[in-house]
Amino acid sequence: MQSRDKCSRQRPADDQREAVPARSSIGRLLSDEHFRLLVETVEDYAIFLLDPAGNVATWNNGAKRIKGYEADEIMGRHFSVFYPPEDVAAGKPESELALAIEKGHIEDEGWRVRRDESRFWANVVITAVRDANGTLRGFAKVTRDMTDQLRLAELQHARELSTHVQTARENERTDIARELHDDLGQQLAALKMQLAALDMDVDATGLARHRVSQTQAMQGQIDTIIASVRRIAAGLRPPILDDLGLFAAIDWLVSDFRRRYGIDATLNNDTEALDFNASASTAIFRLIQEALTNIVRHAEASEVRIDIRRVDADCVLSIEDNGRGAALEADPGTKSFGLLGMRERVRQLRGTIAIDSTPGRGFRILTKLPVETIITGSAV
Ligand SMILES: Nc1ncnc2c1ncn2[C@@H]1O[C@H](COP(=O)(O)OP(=O)(O)OP(=O)(O)O)[C@@H](O)[C@H]1O
Ligand SMILES: [Mg+2]
Repeated sequence: MQSRDKCSRQRPADDQREAVPARSSIGRLLSDEHFRLLVETVEDYAIFLLDPAGNVATWNNGAKRIKGYEADEIMGRHFSVFYPPEDVAAGKPESELALAIEKGHIEDEGWRVRRDESRFWANVVITAVRDANGTLRGFAKVTRDMTDQLRLAELQHARELSTHVQTARENERTDIARELHDDLGQQLAALKMQLAALDMDVDATGLARHRVSQTQAMQGQIDTIIASVRRIAAGLRPPILDDLGLFAAIDWLVSDFRRRYGIDATLNNDTEALDFNASASTAIFRLIQEALTNIVRHAEASEVRIDIRRVDADCVLSIEDNGRGAALEADPGTKSFGLLGMRERVRQLRGTIAIDSTPGRGFRILTKLPVETIITGSAV
């Protein structure tokens, strides 16, 4: 591409002069002065004419803005200069003109190249222009820069993908939790019962003493394993969230936090009347869970306050501690996913999240979730 552009730009001036008649002949098609002025001043679309050989014959403001060429730099040059080298090598410019001649017009979306060699995603319509006798006089070309729309579509796709991954992860966690509980948990319980039976059996014989102590130790071990399994299953997805609902699960989370870390945590909730849907319940539970984990890891706090309130059309969740806080402008680095995950969950529920902290003055997370997206029956 570079060499082609360079080569074209270095064309002798004679060449450019040769192109002018083509412009003036096809330019006559734009005989209406008002119409010509209108086309010239359009900024959002590159609208220009090509002569029958595909050389640029007119240029408007939109073309200058989108493609970056001044009129006198581009007039008379072949329009293949706007195509990426791989498309030029494949003969795309010529085949598009041939199709336009055959079908009257063609529409195409693809990458095009600006004067500075950057690429943009273009929607292009090429129309064959014929005179009253049907003789081909050239082509009208309308190009629109769709790069922003493409990026938006890509972003939307990435968001959908992220939502999908999040849901898949939750489903996977639920499955793992069920497996741990139903499979591993059941097996361990059965093993314990067998051991208890063995215990009773040997108790009546002279050989029993040594084996009794052995089996007792094993029973103790198994109790520990069962407790671990319960803890792991509860950490992956607390059964309480499915069994008793969000509020009991949050109560459990907060009292477990108090008991484990001895931090004074208060919970105020006035939203019990709301029927939270499954994704909102999971999101709110995970938000509080991550915030509490962060408090243990980073805050050195002695008090935590969690408020869940209904304010007009929003459910407002605030988690605040009196710990050492953090300088939020500092780059969290690529290994911090907690706050990022919170933002993503809140965004999926079409809510807003504000994180507020000053070093030495605690940390506060304030989330507003629209009630209509978090109650059962909502479309999110
Ligand atoms: N309650 C808090 N008090 C003080 N600093 C906090 C608090 N919560 C978060 N931070 C700061 O914000 C940073 C980012 O938190 P985030 O949860 O995103 O990542 P992390 O906890 O470091 O790692 P992980 O990805 O495992 O969650 C933390 O590293 C910490 O410096
Ligand atoms: Mg964290």
